[in-house]
Amino acid sequence: MNENTETILLGLESSCDDTAAAILRATPGAAPEILASIVKGQTDLHAAFGGVVPEIAARAHAEKLDLCVEEALTTANLTLADLDAVAVTAGPGLIGGVLSGVMVAKGLSAGLGIPLIGVNHLAGHALTPRLTDQVAFPYLMLLVSGGHCQFLIARGPEDFSRLGGTIDDAPGEAFDKTARLLGLPQPGGPSVQSEAAKGDAKRFRFPRPLLDRPGCDMSFSGLKTALLRARDALVAEKGGLTEQDRADLCAGFQAAVVDVLSEKTRRALDIYLTEIPTEPLLAVAGGVAANTAIRARLETDCGERGVTFTAPPLALCTDNAAMIAYAGLERFAKGAKDDMTLAARPRWPLDQTAPALLGSGKKGAKA
Ligand code: KG4
Ligand code: ZN
Repeated sequence: MNENTETILLGLESSCDDTAAAILRATPGAAPEILASIVKGQTDLHAAFGGVVPEIAARAHAEKLDLCVEEALTTANLTLADLDAVAVTAGPGLIGGVLSGVMVAKGLSAGLGIPLIGVNHLAGHALTPRLTDQVAFPYLMLLVSGGHCQFLIARGPEDFSRLGGTIDDAPGEAFDKTARLLGLPQPGGPSVQSEAAKGDAKRFRFPRPLLDRPGCDMSFSGLKTALLRARDALVAEKGGLTEQDRADLCAGFQAAVVDVLSEKTRRALDIYLTEIPTEPLLAVAGGVAANTAIRARLETDCGERGVTFTAPPLALCTDNAAMIAYAGLERFAKGAKDDMTLAARPRWPLDQTAPALLGSGKKGAKA
């Protein structure tokens, strides 16, 4: 630590298909500053396989982590000797990738003699509003990504209660599968979103699963089956899809996801407000929180109920290491740290007390 005035943290992320390193400067009484945030994706490596191949991902992480660290240090104009601590995603995620990151972090910690801090990837997403907007605890978090979808009450850096979540696919998976079914590029979220902008959301009426059931659990797997049927019906009728068909299918799909998230968020807010009625705030995070239609609807919903809404900038919605460095900082500030026994965990629910959700996503069992 530099004369106890500031802390320079290195963050590492390698739990799915993005290899990332970031450097954060924390100064007491001031907002933390992201000095560098390097993300190297692997979309090209997995493109031919129609999904993330864990073994390929792990090897690519092992190759790219060093490069990301070097690039982050250069960007921040620092050297390894300037680092005060290293934070790393220790789960949940694809185990080979998580292991790659944990090994690099252990090496740096041992070699530089600096503390090692294991971070839950989901906590990284869930704490991002504190990094970007200095949001105070408690707040309601909707975490929507390629592997996860859950409502959490965030009460502290390691204190989360889950109100509900998906029982099968995560919305990001549904976006990715939709893109695959329609021959659009991966990751599916951004490509489906831009097609949807050109389409008519009313032409296809897709199901809004689980809206007839109380609570804020969600389901998205039926949606892709409905989309598949609609696509096949068009192909059978006309021999193929026009540009407009594709855009309309995307618009119909996205509208269904927006409706489900909006209604379930309304219910999560009902529960949250009963418990914590003062200065309510809803934050979204995770890759799907980059979706402009979802952000816009949730912002409107919150506005109508006097709830403050916040969403991180797009680059901090999708996987990155700045959020891992920040979550590490929150643990570090409380005196927590790990040692060389830090284990990589494929599954690591944020709320250990909530019953496990059904289904398994691209990152394994739903946390
Ligand atoms: O948080 P993230 O980077 O990785 C996980 O932890 O899963 O999220 C990636 C997911 C992918 O499924 C991607 O298609 C989705 O986020 N995504 C989006 C958008 N941008 C990324 N989904 C909908 N709309 C977007 N604009
Ligand atoms: Zn993520």
